[in-house]
Amino acid sequence: MHIARSSLSAALMATSVRAFSPAASSSFRSSAAISNLSSRTFSSTTSLNANVLKLTEPAKDLLPDVDVFIFDCDGVIWRGDSVIEGIPETLEKLRALGKKMYFVTNNSTKSRKGYKKKFDSLGLDVPAEEIFSSSFAAAAYLEQTNFKESGKKVYVVGEVGIQEELDLIGVPHFGGPEDGGKQPDMGPGGALPHDSDVGAVIVGFDRNINYYKFNMLIVY
Ligand SMILES: *[C@@H]1O[C@H](CO)[C@@H](O)[C@H](O)[C@H]1NC(C)=O
Ligand SMILES: *[C@@H]1O[C@H](CO)[C@@H](O)[C@H](O)[C@H]1NC(C)=O
Ligand SMILES: *[C@@H]1O[C@H](CO)[C@@H](O)[C@H](O)[C@H]1NC(C)=O
Repeated sequence: MHIARSSLSAALMATSVRAFSPAASSSFRSSAAISNLSSRTFSSTTSLNANVLKLTEPAKDLLPDVDVFIFDCDGVIWRGDSVIEGIPETLEKLRALGKKMYFVTNNSTKSRKGYKKKFDSLGLDVPAEEIFSSSFAAAAYLEQTNFKESGKKVYVVGEVGIQEELDLIGVPHFGGPEDGGKQPDMGPGGALPHDSDVGAVIVGFDRNINYYKFNMLIVY
C-alpha cells in the first residue's frame, strides 16, 4: 500500500488543458500560463520527494506521527471492479483514529461524483470531499483562471468525467463521448467544422479516441 504519497501532480498532468485567452496575444499568454502551472507542479513534487519517507518495512511509529494519508486509487484501493484485500479494514481503522484521508486518481473518465459511486459500490464509505480526480483538476484549473468570464467553450477529448466536472462549474462544452462515432469528411471540398467560440481543449483518457477527434485537436 502506498502511504502518504501524493499523485496529485500526476493527476494534474494526466489531463492537459490548453487554455486560450480571447485576446490577440492568446497563444503566447496561454503557453505562459501552462508553464506557470507546470513549474508549480514540479516544485510541489520536489518538496514532496524531499519530505516523504518511503516505508520499507512496517513502521510502528507511523500512526501517531502521520495525520494525513493520501491514497492513489487504481491498484491501491481497487483493481478493476474489486476492492483490494485489507483496504476496508485499513480505511476504517484510520478513520476511527481520526486521520484525514484523500483519494487521488489520474483517470479522468469519471468525475468526483462518479468515483463516489464507485467507492459506494465497493462498500467503502468515502465522502465526496476526499476525492480528487484529474477530471476535477482540469475543471479547477479553468475555474481558477476565470475561464468562464471569457464566454468561450471547451472542446473535450475524453469521457463523461470531464463533462460532469465542467457542468458543475457552469462552463459550456462539447465533444467527448458524443463525438465517438464521428468521422471527418475527407471527400473533395470536405471541411472541418470550426467553432470560433472554443477557448480551451481538455484532453484526458478517452476509450473512443478517433481520427475525427484528432482533427478537432488540430483545428483548435
Ligand atoms: C506566472 O507567474 C508569475 C509569478 O508568479 C506571474 O507574475 C505571472 O503573471 C504569471 N503568468 C501567467 C501567464 O499566469
Ligand atoms: C480508467 O478508468 C476506466 C473506467 O474505470 C478504465 O476502463 C480504464 O482502463 C482506466 N484507464 C487506465 C489507463 O487505467
Ligand atoms: C496514470 O498514471 C499511471 C502511472 O504513470 C499510468 O500507468 C496510467 O496509464 C495513468 N492513467 C491514465 C488514465 O492516464
